[in-house]
Amino acid sequence: MPNFSINIIPDHKQVTANEKESLYHAMVVAGIPLKASCGGKGTCSDCKVLVREGKVESLTTGMLTEEEQKQGYMLACQCFAQSNLVVEVPEESKLTEHRIVLSNNPAGGSIAQNGDERIGILEEEPERAGEGPDIPLFKRLFLKVPEPSLDDMEDDIGRVIRVIRKETGVELLRPTLNVLLTLPNILRQAGWKVTVSLAEGKGYKSVEITGVEPGHIEQKYYGLAVDIGTTTVVAKLVDLESGQTVGIKGTYNKQAVYGDDVITRIIHTNEYPDGLRELRKVVVETINELIEDLAKEQRIKQTDIRTVVCAGNTTMTHLFLGLDPTYIRLEPYTPVVNNIPAVRASRAGLNVYPMAWVQCITGVASYMGGDVTAGVLVSGMAFAEELTLFVDIGTNGEMVLGNKEWLISCACSAGPAFEGGGIRHGMRAMRGAIEKVRISPGGAKVTCCTIGNVPPTGICGSGLIDCVAWLYKSGIIDRSGNFVSDVKSPRIRDSAEGKEFVLVWSEKAGRFTDITISEAEIKNLIRSKAAVYAGIRSMLQMVGLPVEAIDRVVIAGGFGRYINIRDAIDIGMFPDIPLEKYSYVGNSSVKGAKLALLSKKARDMLEEIAKKMTYLELSIGNTFMDEFVSALFIPHTDLGLFPTMQ
Ligand code: FES
Repeated sequence: MPNFSINIIPDHKQVTANEKESLYHAMVVAGIPLKASCGGKGTCSDCKVLVREGKVESLTTGMLTEEEQKQGYMLACQCFAQSNLVVEVPEESKLTEHRIVLSNNPAGGSIAQNGDERIGILEEEPERAGEGPDIPLFKRLFLKVPEPSLDDMEDDIGRVIRVIRKETGVELLRPTLNVLLTLPNILRQAGWKVTVSLAEGKGYKSVEITGVEPGHIEQKYYGLAVDIGTTTVVAKLVDLESGQTVGIKGTYNKQAVYGDDVITRIIHTNEYPDGLRELRKVVVETINELIEDLAKEQRIKQTDIRTVVCAGNTTMTHLFLGLDPTYIRLEPYTPVVNNIPAVRASRAGLNVYPMAWVQCITGVASYMGGDVTAGVLVSGMAFAEELTLFVDIGTNGEMVLGNKEWLISCACSAGPAFEGGGIRHGMRAMRGAIEKVRISPGGAKVTCCTIGNVPPTGICGSGLIDCVAWLYKSGIIDRSGNFVSDVKSPRIRDSAEGKEFVLVWSEKAGRFTDITISEAEIKNLIRSKAAVYAGIRSMLQMVGLPVEAIDRVVIAGGFGRYINIRDAIDIGMFPDIPLEKYSYVGNSSVKGAKLALLSKKARDMLEEIAKKMTYLELSIGNTFMDEFVSALFIPHTDLGLFPTMQ
């Protein structure tokens, strides 16, 4: 079968593909990231390209509009080269420059006072859980070991352990064989003054003595806290002695080219014999690139990183370690493991000190992973009197309700809309995405703000929430999301997909076509917001409490950072309680991982939280479905639940 050469413009990258391999697959293999919510199944239209030269066979163009087809757009995942090609990847199809929450807005801290302000922000490192570096997962210690004598003939390692116990209070210690092999000479040559390295591995009761070096070693040593998100991966490099974060980097998860959500990725592992290996390889590569960048930036050796803590949802941790995720998506939804014991970095494939322990924060269920356990720790809710609602929204909405007495959690499928999926002009929070929308009554004037202040190429989750809220507030759509028939505006028009509203005309857009939102897409979004609200209400019903009982709401995650809370309440996604009760915690997953790196107390708390958290499976019983149906209106069937909207 001949291999055709494909010139990808505008970057002029060369790719080869045979006539049986899709352009999308050829680009992924060559490391050219392309958006692909559906993972290459031809159902999302994210992977649009323009074939500028050469011949292709295109299986289907069903997801493309007439206008797009006229302009020559094709779906890369449905295109097969029949000759050498020149293929243009338009801006809106590139999987680049994803906006990643690395730190909180330094200007934050105040609580939103009106609809135009964003949510209040909790301090960067909340001083409420496992403060300070009490016992980090890795530690170096200078010891003066008492020399043996005929009156004290204890073995060499026993003498070392005796001093470590005295200095640290740690009772259970075990040396590695490598330590024992070199110990007698090092002790004697160094005059019994040595530096020992101690490492704790999750799941092991004793602390490991991993190294003994002559003299007083002052070299710094680091830990890595990693948030393995479905969409993005963020890593913090932490000085384990001072507890300070010395570097932070984030990038998109390279698994994104296999599909946006965890289910698509699990299916990929089932459909392709090499699927699990591929997904594991790319996420490990993603983390290793962050490690390399952080080490270069800080001018340290990668082997100076002596311990790693990862927090991720259950599917992500399974894929990271190469564990079979199949049964996560099949009833009764059981993962291989929630509490994963530590593994060596060399086994996990991370390019740090090979013997470093890599630990994943304990999860609770298939759809309640260690990232949420970490979030609950960081929010402080598990140790507070007040009733707190913790919310992390992405493709899945993960929510926890409770206080120091009890914790209940649930996960709802919010669908891909908040990540910009399933919406023709939806996109992730990247440069060019509309993140804020204002619409005047009747739609005469529309104002859109984009990420990066550039001409818009699409609309991201926070923009979509604003959009639905303002279409409703400006009288253009009714409570069911239908366009109101007597509102006349040139922006409301009929299309092949039904009625739609033009947010940005093509002349003002950073793409060739108008940016629109259709009635069907508005309803799609209403379903997403209904799922979130129904999840919250189901937990409240379970414990017999009203919405007003919630003392505070903590929003976490990258998407949560940009939500306009007033608009989210107005469409009925979040409870209608005072805005002052809302706060934003940032990337609580990586923050929790950092706390675990530094503090034994935090690690114990994480285990306690995971044990304490009850998981409510929403597919059992009718409560969730009843709540969901009631929430399919703006803001809700029961307006009494939204007093500020009456
Ligand atoms: Fe090609 Fe979804 S349509 S990746």
